[in-house]
Amino acid sequence: MPSIDTRHRPRLKIGETLDLQIETLAPNGRGIAYSNGEAVSVKEGLPGDQVRAQMTRVRPNQVEARLLTVETASPERVPARCQHFGPCGGCDLQHLAYPSQVEWKTKALTRILREEAGLKSIPPLRVVPMESPWGYRSKMEFSFGQEGGEITLGLHQRASFQRIVNILTCHIAPPAVSDLLQAIRQVVNRFPLKSYNPKIHEGFWRYAVVRSSQASGKLMLLVVTNEGPREPIEALAAELPKVVPALDSFYWGVSTRVSDVAQPETMSFIAGSEVLEDQISGVRFQIRPTNFVQPNLLLASRIYETIRDLANLSGRETAYDLYCGMGLIALSLAGRAKQVFGVEADPENVAFAQRNAALNGISNATFLCGKVEDLLKGQSLFKAGPKPDLIILDPPRAGLHHQVYAPLLGAEAATLMYLSCNPLSMARDLKILLERDPHYQVDAISLFDFFPHTTHLEVLVTLRRS
Ligand SMILES: C[S@@+](CC[C@H](N)C(=O)[O-])C[C@H]1O[C@@H](n2cnc3c(N)ncnc32)[C@H](O)[C@@H]1O
Repeated sequence: MPSIDTRHRPRLKIGETLDLQIETLAPNGRGIAYSNGEAVSVKEGLPGDQVRAQMTRVRPNQVEARLLTVETASPERVPARCQHFGPCGGCDLQHLAYPSQVEWKTKALTRILREEAGLKSIPPLRVVPMESPWGYRSKMEFSFGQEGGEITLGLHQRASFQRIVNILTCHIAPPAVSDLLQAIRQVVNRFPLKSYNPKIHEGFWRYAVVRSSQASGKLMLLVVTNEGPREPIEALAAELPKVVPALDSFYWGVSTRVSDVAQPETMSFIAGSEVLEDQISGVRFQIRPTNFVQPNLLLASRIYETIRDLANLSGRETAYDLYCGMGLIALSLAGRAKQVFGVEADPENVAFAQRNAALNGISNATFLCGKVEDLLKGQSLFKAGPKPDLIILDPPRAGLHHQVYAPLLGAEAATLMYLSCNPLSMARDLKILLERDPHYQVDAISLFDFFPHTTHLEVLVTLRRS
């Protein structure tokens, strides 16, 4: 990019239209072009596109534009499969050919590893795309909305707190999920109840959370409402299985929370099976609607297999699975280790980890309930239990609590594996861990394209201690 004296640059104006050449893709999936040296972010622009765009926001260091027409299309541009692409906040990249999405994520991760984690040499990334990048979501959280007198059901409109895109077909979920959305809409619209309005905190219908089993194709539904009558819930229970035979389990949750999270304060089992059963990497497991399970089970099985291969256990080792959710990584390693331990803050996940260990006849797995930072304080966990040979970390998006670094490194495990859905927090943690203990070296990095058509990815970094 040429160097420009920005003091004398003519200011762009809102409403102005320009012809722009898109040069790169920003981390949020928007195309970036330059006008007189100023970066302009164009929604749905792709590198290689020549576009006409209209300025919608002009602020110092933040210029945004709406794409009006693509004059010359990038060779990587493809028609988006979904009719809701654009307004829907679910997918950002359906207009980019799938191999190019994976290539872009590979470059983005490499840059983060170099610039944010400070890695001087990066081993060749093992990139695992999806064979078929559609219908992969094993968990979807939909919200109810309202259009006039009609209750709608779908995903949040991009950058909107309140507006819901009424989803007719969601191509990243299994097809039966879209059938279920349609069936739910038909039943709820028979009742004179409104959807929850987050501005005034009134209304009944809030969320529909759908899980699907990879093994059986069965669905589990949790409908979350504000406090209110049971009758419409009974109607859903009676009607939905007739229209969607795959629906196997139905729960009702009630939330009076102001925050926009589909976590009910109370939950009751309404109809069908109490648990949804599935299988991953040879481990059978059962869930209730609020248990944590990876949202792409097809690729999660590839992750668990990669962990097993890289761990290369002989049967004499002790492995710790920290932030273990329902303990599925620990359970998938149990057959090759002397013993495995899981640590998880949510008691319901811990209860199901224990239940799933029993379901698989696994007796060398122990699950502890508590925050990792609390249980590791002063190395207490590793002092009380056997010394770890392998520690797997899979923290939430925020990454590791700062009190985890010292006891983690103090354990001197031969192998640390860090699995993350947020490469930025992972890079921050890796930088700190590698600076504090130079005995650890990066041995392998795998990128799993866990969320095709979105900007998100999953990464597994393996550190070995010399
Ligand atoms: C990304 S998920 C782990 C998923 C799990 N490894 C799997 O493959 O199914 C992160 C988990 O960390 C738990 N968690 C969040 N903060 C925690 C903390 N401070 N200590 C322990 N667990 C925590 C969450 O409840 C969630 O189950």
